[in-house]
Amino acid sequence: MNHLIAPSVLSADFGNLQRDIEMINNSEADWFHVDVMDGMFVPNISFGFPVIKAIKKHATKPLDVHLMVTDPDRYLTQFKEAGADVLTVHFEACIHLHRTVQAIKALGLKAGVAINPHTSVNLLTDIISDLDLVLIMSVNPGFGGQKFIENTYHKIAALREIIRATKSKAMIEVDGGVDMNNYKKLIDAGANVLVAGNTVFSSPDPVQTISMLKK
Ligand code: DX5
Ligand code: ZN
Repeated sequence: MNHLIAPSVLSADFGNLQRDIEMINNSEADWFHVDVMDGMFVPNISFGFPVIKAIKKHATKPLDVHLMVTDPDRYLTQFKEAGADVLTVHFEACIHLHRTVQAIKALGLKAGVAINPHTSVNLLTDIISDLDLVLIMSVNPGFGGQKFIENTYHKIAALREIIRATKSKAMIEVDGGVDMNNYKKLIDAGANVLVAGNTVFSSPDPVQTISMLKK
């Protein structure tokens, strides 16, 4: 499968959100990566339902919503109503992860699980068959523009092996510090979806940067 690129809206200019959404619409990007932070699970607050609805209104590509939220079960229906297509919860934020994943799928959404840099991919062996996506955090969640953690390559390879052994259909998404120096190596290691915030939005020509990340 060809890899997907999901620019992170967190790095967009919120004063010109429609313009930046249209830039992504008109680029080779595949998904919109939408980071929701609650100030509890991570030491930052990003945005909530009104902003997601505004993104959905203009976006012509799926919304890949990454919930950095404690106890996300409380809000799954509202994220669907706001426009999520893929809904990813954190392994570390869910006490009954299996139940949460089934609830996401029952809403008709693709279900993802994200793991923090310290969380082993081996903890996913009993849930992997139920997942559409695993998001490997390659920085500690909470902020855009952080430095990529090198151990991520090892985690991608180990997860790729678990997916092969279990015949799971889960995609592997990598999120944090993806740039022009590491994206090829991430794809070679087995990543299917690359999130890029700072690399896209701080570049002089974001459309061309997205195009380069697709190659
Ligand atoms: C971090 C978020 C990321 C972030 C990535 O907590 O989950 O999606 O926006 O930003 P960059 O690509 O700048 O590291
Ligand atoms: Zn994210």
